[in-house]
Amino acid sequence: MAAAATFDFTRRLRLVSDRDVDRLREHFLAPAEAFDAESLGDRLLFPLEMSWFYGEPIWHELSEAQRLMLNRLTFCQSYFSTAVAEAATNTLNFQAALQTLIREDPEVALYMAREVVEETTHIQSFLIVIRKVLAHYGLDLDALRRANVSLSLSERYVQAHSLAGWLRGNLDFYYFTRFPLNVNQKTVERCTIDEPDMHDGVRAILKAHAIDEARHMQMSRATGKVALARMGVLRTPGCIAFAHFAARIYIGRHAKDGALQRGTRTNTLALVGVPAARAAQAYAEWRDRKNQPEDPPLVRAGRRYYVRQMFEYVDELDVSPRLRAYMKRVIGAGYADVAGDFAGRGESALDFPELTRS
Ligand SMILES: [Fe+2]
Ligand SMILES: [Fe+2]
Repeated sequence: MAAAATFDFTRRLRLVSDRDVDRLREHFLAPAEAFDAESLGDRLLFPLEMSWFYGEPIWHELSEAQRLMLNRLTFCQSYFSTAVAEAATNTLNFQAALQTLIREDPEVALYMAREVVEETTHIQSFLIVIRKVLAHYGLDLDALRRANVSLSLSERYVQAHSLAGWLRGNLDFYYFTRFPLNVNQKTVERCTIDEPDMHDGVRAILKAHAIDEARHMQMSRATGKVALARMGVLRTPGCIAFAHFAARIYIGRHAKDGALQRGTRTNTLALVGVPAARAAQAYAEWRDRKNQPEDPPLVRAGRRYYVRQMFEYVDELDVSPRLRAYMKRVIGAGYADVAGDFAGRGESALDFPELTRS
């Protein structure tokens, strides 16, 4: 185990990044700057079935224009949350790079810092597109931020891991939590890219992003295992914490939904023009699965994809069978709607072929 507990694999990731890093402007900023919200027409910016409140009575009460607006605001909220989460991970990545530069391998530190460079361009291009979409509807970023009360979760995430990192002298706990965040983001992004009615210009940006993030996810997958190997006596509590953390990351509706997520969804519905009381009622019915006991097929498949990825990852961890079973139980309990008999019902699982850059 000791031989495997190094970050040497980052050298290979760095070589891939070296090939792409000079084209960040071409892949992200240029298409974001070229995006014209007036070209949206009837194109979508998010998977139709993953639009918040899709298929609910409130969805059918909205006009066609309002439904389009809700789909696009779902994109804005999702990608603004992604931008904020990427800023959060940048903070921790650079702390890790600092420690690694001083005490460990400077070349590894440079790869960690490289991810910060890439994320910064991602954040910038998302902001450019989001602002243009909002302006198309006479909204500004402040209106979106006010509605998105769940953004503070990213601040808390950084504070908790910075504190743990300061106490322990390394960011191992942070590295152990990255993989579920990556898989969650990947699920939404790949479904957005695959949405047939997606706006082509924005799709191209998200495709470029998915290619960078596939590499970041390789980093997460491998560093998580290295981090676990380094935890020593904290391995078991670390795994328990991981399972509870992974069980709380989700798309669609979730048993562990919280007040901040509720606030963001109802506030966004209000931006579309729904009165606050009706928005609160629509949220409660949606969360409680009153009208649609089952999620739309794409959401269900996305949730299933996430659980499957988590279970496979848990299987790869060097832990006791008992701890492994516990971790799967905790994650499966958060995903009781899809953790059961999926194949037996003839439902197809999501499959994402590898994306490549020309
Ligand atoms: Fe990113
Ligand atoms: Fe990333």
